[in-house]
Amino acid sequence: MTDSLKAFISLRMASRFSGPGKPRTADDWLHLEWDLANLFSGAPVNEEDLFAGRSTEVKRILEAVVERSRHVILYGERGVGKTSLSNIFWRRYNTMLKSMLVARVQADPSDNFTSLWNKAIDELASTARQSDRYDLTPLDTNTSMDNPDIVRRELQKCRADATPIIIIDEYDKLSDGNARLLTANVIKYLYDYSANVTIILVGVAEDIVSLIEDHQSIDRAISQIKLNRMSDFELNEVIDKRLSKTVMKISGDARWTIVTLSRGLPYFTQMLGKYSAVQAAKRRSLKIDVEDVEAAMDTFIVDSEEKMQEAYRKATESNQKDNFFKQVLLACALAKTDQFGFFTPTDVIQPYSAIVGKKKTHAHFQRHLTEFISETRGKILIRRGGERQYRFRFSDPMMQPFVIIRGIQERLIDPQSRKRLLEQEQPGLPIGS
Ligand SMILES: Nc1ncnc2c1ncn2[C@@H]1O[C@H](COP(=O)(O)OP(=O)(O)OP(=O)(O)O)[C@@H](O)[C@H]1O
Ligand SMILES: [Mg+2]
Repeated sequence: MTDSLKAFISLRMASRFSGPGKPRTADDWLHLEWDLANLFSGAPVNEEDLFAGRSTEVKRILEAVVERSRHVILYGERGVGKTSLSNIFWRRYNTMLKSMLVARVQADPSDNFTSLWNKAIDELASTARQSDRYDLTPLDTNTSMDNPDIVRRELQKCRADATPIIIIDEYDKLSDGNARLLTANVIKYLYDYSANVTIILVGVAEDIVSLIEDHQSIDRAISQIKLNRMSDFELNEVIDKRLSKTVMKISGDARWTIVTLSRGLPYFTQMLGKYSAVQAAKRRSLKIDVEDVEAAMDTFIVDSEEKMQEAYRKATESNQKDNFFKQVLLACALAKTDQFGFFTPTDVIQPYSAIVGKKKTHAHFQRHLTEFISETRGKILIRRGGERQYRFRFSDPMMQPFVIIRGIQERLIDPQSRKRLLEQEQPGLPIGS
């Protein structure tokens, strides 16, 4: 191992969320920057003390776990925090419920029923072995899980005092319809036989109908938990939980800007939080200010996923000058929505008028909306409802904050209107310091 590599590793090991006091040397500041980048990583949360909010949902899942033969469908938009919640909810009471054994697997498009359930049973057995509690779940991992009865019989081997939980994440990616139908049967059989295993299916969906085949047959056996976007209060907590592990502070305006730009999606709070904090450290300040958030937007756009960049380019490119695709898309991202993220063309009028600085009507952007739902523009929006009652939504919710940040960064909107439009969407934001 080279000396520089050794030095790097020892620096990394020593540097976990910076100690108290102001950094003195250039090395101290570098440590701080690394720590901040690590802390706001953007990966699903795996540590209880970094997990913000969601107490109602945690309680509901735990109630289902404790109740015999109840199972959970945890669903919601992409990026709202489903994986993080399923990683964390059980840790809160893990010391009390020592018999809890949690196996987490991910479904993937190539899975069929047998491969999915072989994975789940293997994972549960391996979790039990790792925690030296094989006695609680004496499973036979050599049996192929070919049908729901075999799975049910295997899971019934779990001891009565065990609390086994199987989490199947990314369940929406399971494309095999038969596998979905048979998995619903597993839940039904476990319910009918009053087995003490809890199955938690996690996936991206607007409603459970699109996630579960034949859901009526298992309605009584399941708790449906829809994970909504985070409230402003919860997003503030995302910032606070992380910053409290460092010496950094944040101004009220900087905090407000990060939270309102995030549109309820914690990924953006983390990313903007990270880039802003690193930016503040780069200018040798321990307080994140609004100028750091502005700089963070630029870094975010440069570093953001290629997928988002490409979707934005496809949706807004045009050979014609004055085509206004970017402005209309930004107005859509700023439009008032219902709780499911849908807006009507009427909701677009006000932000669009503010962006272009003139009073506008439907007629000025009708064509753009129709194009946004087309293949040519990458179906950046989806449309629901009948004519005259059309409602639109970003097909990928993550694109909504992206379009806002990109629009601000490209100066499509003046600072005054921007503040007003961001504000009206989220009126009750507590301003911290
Ligand atoms: N309760 C929380 N506290 C703090 N950060 C969170 C919380 N929930 C989610 N996050 C952050 O939000 C981002 C998205 O979280 P996560 O991956 O859990 O969402 P998801 O709904 O599973 O996404 P996908 O639909 O893409 O699978 C991550 O950066 C994660 O760290
Ligand atoms: Mg996930």
